[in-house]
Order: sequence, then structure tokens, then C-alpha cells
Amino acid sequence: MAQEDVFKKVVSHCKEYGFVFPSSEIYDGLGAVYDYGQNGVELKNNIKQYWWQSMVLMHENIVGIDSCVFMHPTIWKASGHVDAFNDPLIDNRDSKKRYRADVLIEEQIAKYEDKIEKEVAKARKRFGDAFDEQQYRSTSPRVLEETQKRNALHERYSEAMNKMDLQELRQIILDEEIVCPISGTRNWTEVRQFNLMFKTEMGSTADAAMTIYLRPETAQGIFVNYLNVQKTGRMKIPFGIAQIGKAFRNEIVARQFIFRMREFEQMEMQFFIKPGTELDWFDKWKHTRMAWHRNLGFGDDNYRFHDHEKLAHYANAATDIEFRLPFGFKEVEGIHSRTDFDLSQHEKFSGKSIKYFDPEINDSYTPYVIETSIGVDRMFLSIMCHSFCEEKLENGETRTVLRLPAALAPVKLAVMPLVKKDGLPEKAREIVDDLKFHFNCQYDEKDSIGKRYRRQDAIGTPYCVTVDFDTLQDNTVTIRMRDTMEQRRIPIAELRGLIEDNVSITSLLKKLK
Ligand code: GAP
Repeated sequence: MAQEDVFKKVVSHCKEYGFVFPSSEIYDGLGAVYDYGQNGVELKNNIKQYWWQSMVLMHENIVGIDSCVFMHPTIWKASGHVDAFNDPLIDNRDSKKRYRADVLIEEQIAKYEDKIEKEVAKARKRFGDAFDEQQYRSTSPRVLEETQKRNALHERYSEAMNKMDLQELRQIILDEEIVCPISGTRNWTEVRQFNLMFKTEMGSTADAAMTIYLRPETAQGIFVNYLNVQKTGRMKIPFGIAQIGKAFRNEIVARQFIFRMREFEQMEMQFFIKPGTELDWFDKWKHTRMAWHRNLGFGDDNYRFHDHEKLAHYANAATDIEFRLPFGFKEVEGIHSRTDFDLSQHEKFSGKSIKYFDPEINDSYTPYVIETSIGVDRMFLSIMCHSFCEEKLENGETRTVLRLPAALAPVKLAVMPLVKKDGLPEKAREIVDDLKFHFNCQYDEKDSIGKRYRRQDAIGTPYCVTVDFDTLQDNTVTIRMRDTMEQRRIPIAELRGLIEDNVSITSLLKKLK
């Protein structure tokens, strides 16, 4: 199946099975805002738990907080968001559509990369086992030509972005003959800066109202609470503060479903360290976070690091963890070495000292910070895309199954009476009533057993149990495994032991090295 089709299917599956709905749908929706349905919220909560527990339970020196969306507006001046949290945007005069200039150019770079990869794939097929990829990449005239074009464009683009040279960005779009996907024309306006923060007002009278921002990242709530936590928790450097919460950005290009939203959720951790140790800690967190992703078992080849060439003025190292989505490798998480920029800025703007006294060296300093920042919704999307599967069965039917890691699945066990009479529903409910304290169970008595299995496969339920007439005699049930469809007869008393270990977040955490 073409990757584009996979993505379309995932989007409609999310809606059909209660994972994600377009927000305000009965009013024709609201751009790039989505609601999570009955299964979506369970999956999302499980992702959050996996992250939270891996940070806060697994590290003695990391604690959590929950700060507010509304914060003092000077915080955003200090952090640089008021002046510099901008995207360069360009309009097409014919279609009246607005684009991010940097995204248009990055898509052009990706086109060159696509061409190169297609050439290599064709050659691999042609030469079979004898194929020497390295040699082919360094000698094929076509590959060399496309690589040269790609590199030249990349270099020019990086320079323009580093200097935020808006005229040069426009010139690149013209020189590369990039057309508007809607109108097909090159009738572009100038490139302008656009601030991504949403504003609102706080206060009861118009005169006294204060403009405040909906936070565009959760991180600043951690920075401004850093000293509160350090003092009240008697934390010693190195230590971390973790937070999960909503963030808001008025994204210009809001596409690709929940990949880029205007209201989304972040899981961020700021790790406070001694200046001079930041590159070692950066490396440690880079690998710790990659291990967390790989632990889900989606295949190591589906992840890669993308080290930033263009560093923000306050960072001295940054990388993205990218995941292979149906529309290419995309950023799911960022790991940044932010130096002492944020804390120093808050010190300067608030006029309050937020230095740390280090008893080991008997001196005070402003800590440096390593940040790990991951989007819950992007994580959700990558999990859905990777788990969605349509498989042909021996009887010719197609089965749609979500091969979710069991610990993340919304429902862990579905209990089904074979028929809706003769005491079978009561027996099935007895099992649910016993097991519901340990994991999420669903009772299902509607339609044939086959249809019920398919429904559970489609939402990723790892186990189904059927209660039949023998159950009433010998207290055994048929358990069916989602991935293999294997069925076994087991005593009811063994259900909990068999399922609980495999579906708990603890089972995932124990696999983390
Ligand atoms: N505090 C650092 C920070 O916010 P970022 O790279 O802008 O860094 C971190 O965002 C993560 O948040 C991204 O890797 C992505 O997963 C998620 N994210 C950012 N913007 C998003 C959006 N508009 N929609 C969904 N997720 C987003």
C-alpha cells in the first residue's frame, strides 16, 4: 500500500474507532484542533504514564510539577518568545494561500533526497546481491548531480535561516521554481515574520486588562519554578523537573492531522547541571531518550537523530529524534543543551537571584540546562501509524488490526459471552468485575464472536476471552491473542497472572536499560 494511502487510512481509522475527532465537528471543525475520543484518551494517558514514570519513578533526582498555562507576560519577553518566536511566511497571490517559506524550501530539499533514494533503490533491485551502495552513490552521474543540487540548496538555505534573511528565502523559492500546490503558480509575495503566540486578555475592565499569552511551551513554567522546587525539595545538582501540559501555537501551516496542531500537549524535562558538564549530559540524555523510544519495539531502523546545524543563539548543542512516518522521517522529540540562557534571562528580567549554591565547591552559579521535549500528539500519531495494519487472512478476508504495544493499548481485555442467555452474560460480568481493578476491561455481547474479535483487533485489544457453556462447568475460558489469533483454554483463575504482566507500564519500564 502506498504510504500516502496508509496515512489516509490511519486518519479515518482514528475517527471511526473513537481515537481522534476533528474538534467542533458539527460546526464544520476548527483548523488544526482535534479532540481525543474514548479510545484515544486511554492511549494518550498510557503514553503519558510511560513517559512520566520513566522520568519521575525511574530517577531519584527528577521530580514533577504542574504549572499554569497563563503566566506573567514578562516571562515571554525574557524567554525571547515575544521578539523571536516567529515563522517566515509567504503568500501566493493567486490561491491566496499562506505558507511557511522554510517549509517550502525544506520540501524542495526532500524532493532531491527522494530522487536520490529512488535511483539507489532502482540500482539495488537491478544489481541484487552484488550491489555496492557506497560505490554507486559516489559514482552514479545522476545521483551525483542530485546530491550536488541538494547540498547547494541546503547550504544556501541554512545560511539564509541563520541570518533570518527574508529576501534571500524568497529568492531561493523563486530560483528553485517552487510553485504553490493549489494554484500551480509562482506569484509569491514578500516573506514576512509572523509571531506564533496566541494572545488573550486578563482583567475585568478594558482599561486595566493585561495582555497575556497562552504558553507556547511548558518549559518556561519549569524555569520560573526552578528555585521553588530546588529549595522545597532540597534538590542537589544535577537534578531534573518534569512536566506534562498543554501548549499553544498559532501555526501557519497546520497540516498532516495531529502532527502540527494549534493546541497540543508536551512532555518536557529540564535537567539542571553544573556549567561545563553540559556536553556529557547532552550525550547521556540523547541516548536515554532514544532507548525510551526503541523500547516500544517498532524497529530501530525507524528512528534517527537529526543534529541541528543551525543552533538557537542560547543553545550549544541540539538534536531531534525523528521517526519514520508515512510522509517521511519527522521530528517527534527535541533534545537541547540550553546553557544558562533561560535562568539568566529570568534573573535579569525579574531582578531576583536564582543562583544555586553548590556545597561541593562552596560557590554559587547559574545552572546550565539540558532539555528533553516531546510532543504527546506526535508520539500518538507515530504509534498509530506504525501499529495500523491490514492483513490478508487464509480465508481471503482482510483483518484490520492495531498492533499496539500491549502496555499502551486502550483496552487490555475484552470479555465476551458466547450467547446472551443461559447465565453466560452473568459469568462474563463476574470476570470483568474481578479484573477491572487491575487493568482496563471491556464487556461485549453484541454481534457474532467473529465480529466482536474484529472490533477489538481494530482498537488494539491484546486479549479477548470467550465465556461458553463449558465455563459454567469447569471455570475455564478461551483466550485469544490479538497478534497471532492463537486461542487457548485456560482457567479463569490464571487470567490475571497471564495478562497483567504483559499489559502494565511496569513491563515496559523493566525492559528499559
Ligand atoms: N521547549 C522546547 C520546545 O518547545 P519544540 O521543538 O518547539 O521545542 C518540542 O517542541 C516538541 O513539541 C516537538 O518535538 C513536537 O513533538 C512537539 N510540537 C511542537 N509543535 C507542535 C505542534 N504545533 N503540534 C504538535 N506537536 C508539536
